Amino acid sequence: MRVLYVSSEIHPLAKTGGLADVSNALPSALSKLGVDVRLFTPGYPSALEAACQKRVVAVLDNVLGFDDVRLVRAVTPDLGLPVWLVDCPALYARDGGPYLDHNGDEWPDNALRFAMLNHVAARLSLGETPVAWRPDIVHAHDWHAGLLPAMLAASRDWRPASVFTIHNMAFQGNFPARALASANCDPGQFHTDGFGVPGEISFLKAGIHFSDCVTTVSRTYASEITTPEYGCGLDGLLRRRGGDLVGILNGVDYGIWDPREDPLLAQRYSADDLSGKQACKRYLQEAFGLEIDPDRPVVAFMSRLADQKMADCVLEALPWISERGAQFALVADGDKALEAAFRDATARNRDVGVQIGYDEPSAHRLLAGADILLAPSRYEPCGLTHLYAMRYGTVPVVRRTGGLADTVTQKDAAAAMEPSRTGYLFEEPTTAAMIRALDSALTTFRYPHFWRQLMLNCMSADFGWEESAQRYLALYRQVARQADGPGARFTAAISSSA
Ligand code: ADP
Ligand code: GLC
Repeated sequence: MRVLYVSSEIHPLAKTGGLADVSNALPSALSKLGVDVRLFTPGYPSALEAACQKRVVAVLDNVLGFDDVRLVRAVTPDLGLPVWLVDCPALYARDGGPYLDHNGDEWPDNALRFAMLNHVAARLSLGETPVAWRPDIVHAHDWHAGLLPAMLAASRDWRPASVFTIHNMAFQGNFPARALASANCDPGQFHTDGFGVPGEISFLKAGIHFSDCVTTVSRTYASEITTPEYGCGLDGLLRRRGGDLVGILNGVDYGIWDPREDPLLAQRYSADDLSGKQACKRYLQEAFGLEIDPDRPVVAFMSRLADQKMADCVLEALPWISERGAQFALVADGDKALEAAFRDATARNRDVGVQIGYDEPSAHRLLAGADILLAPSRYEPCGLTHLYAMRYGTVPVVRRTGGLADTVTQKDAAAAMEPSRTGYLFEEPTTAAMIRALDSALTTFRYPHFWRQLMLNCMSADFGWEESAQRYLALYRQVARQADGPGARFTAAISSSA
């Protein structure tokens, strides 16, 4: 089984969120199952710098009007996974993030930047580059790779089957319809049953419509996105895909996220000996300017500061957290107004410590040193931070939605000290509901015997990738077996959503 895995973010080449973690860990788990999986990603400066054993394997002319587009073959620095990078400096060599400039504004040519990624991946997949390797499956991720299934579907020759994974419905890659020409897509596919939405083209919609199979990253999110509340306008299309829409839960790379081996911690620890966690807590309290007191619970929040993550409600809850005798520590960035508001909160409240910015070592230290992780979320396709937190014995308080609902165990909300819990769940996306769940957690914290049991429950929960990687492999086999030949696959993609 040969799989081309196309993702705009791959840790440690480029990362803005969980997509990058998944795009490192899932391919690694698949290759352990014998899959010949090769990554494909934009040649951002950070990615070209971090990748090892780089070699230019093709120079492509006339891709969307660009000449000398270099296809660079390399391996990832940590796991040694094979990766192709699209080196097109005019589109990718910029100071800023993969999607936004330094002011937080989207790059104005994002349609073209990601159309480039899709075009080069399509050429490689269809054997139109000097690279001899051809995939059986193209696995495209999120809107950035959404045009690829459409390009493959338009092929009149043999083509690989396509799997499209949705990591977040809210980011759709919608651009004015005139972008169609610069993205050089087949106008025949641009209709409201293709990738057109009124007045616009949608990369995400193209991926959902034209792929042979659609997956998302938890079972609950797979069902939620077929409703108007969570479907972001594409719920009708998702309902029409019916059984072609599958939820496969993300996993955790315990090679990176494990307190027994984490080199970034003040002291390592395990379920057998939790003394190192006390040292990590002390380090955290000191680093965040909080009173050093092992008996005061530390509530952590680590996230993109975005509407999705209910960061506004977390901000609103800070006075209550402090009055309740707890401390609060945050590592986050995103919305500038929220960043400023959290900074202000530290000036007013000595129980609040914040670190604004994106910093991997701080992320590990926060999860190790805290007692509780708040992961509220208005919606959450899967969510990884709470899974990481659990392995560090940090108990999650989460909203019952998406992957959070599928991974945190609570039988009875009213039984704060229920012995089999792995966290605290609440239903409504409100500050009051979140506070009630947090209150139960803080009550239990006062009973060291129960709290220790909870920590051990969390630490022993296993969210490794093995089972989910097996499910992807089974899906690849099934999709590859389906229709043979271009006409059949093209027709299948259209009719399943017509
Ligand atoms: P999302 O992808 O929606 O942002 P996830 O929970 O799936 O949410 O993944 C978030 C990823 O980003 C995790 O790897 C988490 O550790 C990381 N992360 C989030 N905020 C920060 C930050 N400020 N600094 C470092 N890592 C962060
Ligand atoms: C998205 C989602 C998050 C998920 C991640 C990886 O960014 O918001 O819930 O864990 O992708 O799939």
